[in-house]
Amino acid sequence: MQTSVRTSFSKLLRRKVVSPQTLVSKERHLSILSIHRRQGCNSVVIEPTKFVHSQPGSSKRCVCSSPPLTSRRGHFDDGSQILSAELLPEKENVMVKMINQGKHLPGSNTDVENQQFPFVWLRDNCQCPKCFHSEAFSRTLQMLDFDINCRPTSLKVSEDKTSITLHWQDGHESTFKADWLSERAFTPRARAARLVDYRGNRILWDARDFKRMNGDDSDNSWRFSYSDIMSKDSSLLAWLEYLQTMGIAMVVGSEPTNGQLRRLADRAAFVRRTHYGELFSVRAKNEPSNVAYTSEKLQIHTDLPYYEYKPGVNMLQCLVQWKGTGGENHLVDSYAVAELMRHEHPNEYNILSTTLVDWTDIGQEPEGVEEDIEANVSQRERRAFHSIYRAPVICEDHEGYIVRVNFSQPQRDSHFCVKLSQVSSWYSAFNVFIQLLHSPRYSVTYKLKEGEILTFDNLRICHGRGGYGTDAGMSESLERHVKGAYMDWDEVRSRIRTLRKKIRLEDELKVS
Ligand code: OGA
Ligand code: ZN
Ligand code: ZN
Repeated sequence: MQTSVRTSFSKLLRRKVVSPQTLVSKERHLSILSIHRRQGCNSVVIEPTKFVHSQPGSSKRCVCSSPPLTSRRGHFDDGSQILSAELLPEKENVMVKMINQGKHLPGSNTDVENQQFPFVWLRDNCQCPKCFHSEAFSRTLQMLDFDINCRPTSLKVSEDKTSITLHWQDGHESTFKADWLSERAFTPRARAARLVDYRGNRILWDARDFKRMNGDDSDNSWRFSYSDIMSKDSSLLAWLEYLQTMGIAMVVGSEPTNGQLRRLADRAAFVRRTHYGELFSVRAKNEPSNVAYTSEKLQIHTDLPYYEYKPGVNMLQCLVQWKGTGGENHLVDSYAVAELMRHEHPNEYNILSTTLVDWTDIGQEPEGVEEDIEANVSQRERRAFHSIYRAPVICEDHEGYIVRVNFSQPQRDSHFCVKLSQVSSWYSAFNVFIQLLHSPRYSVTYKLKEGEILTFDNLRICHGRGGYGTDAGMSESLERHVKGAYMDWDEVRSRIRTLRKKIRLEDELKVS
């Protein structure tokens, strides 16, 4: 089944089949066809990769590229059966009619799916011990000898209808289980389920949603207990999944002392070191290497835009909070703002998502990584750093999905390596983004309490801090001290997948 359609955008608009951004699929009510339209190109690719779902604890619906949490298991991992299978030599495909034992497919009113698998893909993915190392989960088939024109001579469905076996022209034989095939089918359902695994779920939020998440109106869903996370895999997974979906989560009840943040990071994945060290202390310092290390207002930003491999998860543990006015954090879901811009200010969105900006950080930091040597900071050698990375403010992947926002007034370089004619229009576009990010519709404030750990997606959430220290004057007893650390999304996502599998297996053992 062909799943992506190339057609003329204006034709669809004329026929009123489509609004400029989305088109709701009639056949599959859960999914929305997203339209990717590139500048200067009059044809569009329509892909059924968007899903409608609601915010946790509310009836609000949102559209994003992942199936909802509740139908995460959009793949058949238990009990697929083959209704029939045949070779389609003219198409060079195997056609399998797959039945999912009475469970309806997400967004469909049938439990049967036609799945086609190209011959070349099947041969490439043969699971026999000659072609695949099952302990290493790795293909061992020799690339150089691989015949891309290979064809099966016959196909057999097993008696219990749970596998097919192909005989190839060169005498090789390959058997494929139905569950395995279904999970890898080239259908919209299977590809969407795969994207959840790959990208995770994403739910965008604004200030009203945050109020609810923070318990002002109802659900209080963003809070997770430190001790539960440390002792229960299910709590660890719940925190990481929420962090992935909403981009922000609050861990409460940690002891506000050195060492606790590292324990949390080690429990989830591991600390990602940067030129600020592994753990870093955010407090007013003499000779600050970063504007964060003062008591001044810190404008909203994402950390480390000057890293090509920018750490993805930011964790800020409040050890000591400023008791007077100030020291609160400002938080914005920049992806929600960017998506609004995509729809309401498409020209500005296009400029911000295509113009390369220079991001930079120059300075020096004491050598060493451990928080417990912080006391001897003045005696430690300093290591100089000079980082530069060029990237747009809004970064998309090849499918137009936002994957990173770079936003930092202090760390935006005065080098702006673009054509002269691009400069003013870039500033105009940037200004639209700035105004929206700061608008009450999106921007929220939260003052951390001691022992709370603000965890957030550093690719997505703009965060800042109110200035402090002016009302009472600086004094030892009124200081503010936040401990910071990063993790990489690669590691955290991997942990989410392995935890899901572990918990699922444990649940299955309990049932059996
Ligand atoms: C930072 C930062 C926030 C705070 O150090 O980059 O955002 O609360 N700090 O001090
Ligand atoms: Zn093989
Ligand atoms: Zn920061």
